[in-house]
Amino acid sequence: MRTPTLIALCLLQALIAPAYGAADAVRGKALHDKQCVSCHVKRYGGDGAQMYLRPDRLIHDRKALSQRVATCNAMVNAGLFPEDEEDIAAYLAKQYYKFAK
Ligand code: HEC
Repeated sequence: MRTPTLIALCLLQALIAPAYGAADAVRGKALHDKQCVSCHVKRYGGDGAQMYLRPDRLIHDRKALSQRVATCNAMVNAGLFPEDEEDIAAYLAKQYYKFAK
């Protein structure tokens, strides 16, 4: 009785963990640099970061950022999985947006 219960708990935890956002900003940066910067650089030059730092930027909170990353992914057919999107959003939030909430 004990061992199966423990195994079940471990499995459950493995399933739940990603949903509770152990988002990986380092992995997000790698994905972002590969899939996302080219257009932003074309528009703003440099490393494209101005897209996220411009005064009239579109994104003002963390939730909107996640939605925007998902939209960009769909728009450009980057083929990212939801956890990839979250890693990228975590990276952008940490590196550029620095939301208060
Ligand atoms: C086909 C070109 C292109 C690609 C590829 C692209 N983007 Fe964008 N992205 C844009 C453009 C253009 C805008 C600005 C939209 C506007 O100003 O209305 C933008 C805006 C954004 C913004 C909002 C910036 C703000 O104003 O705060 C985010 C976040 C973003 N992109 C993330 C991504 C991510 C993540 C990827 C990779 C999955 C990606 N983009 C790939 C063209 C692109």
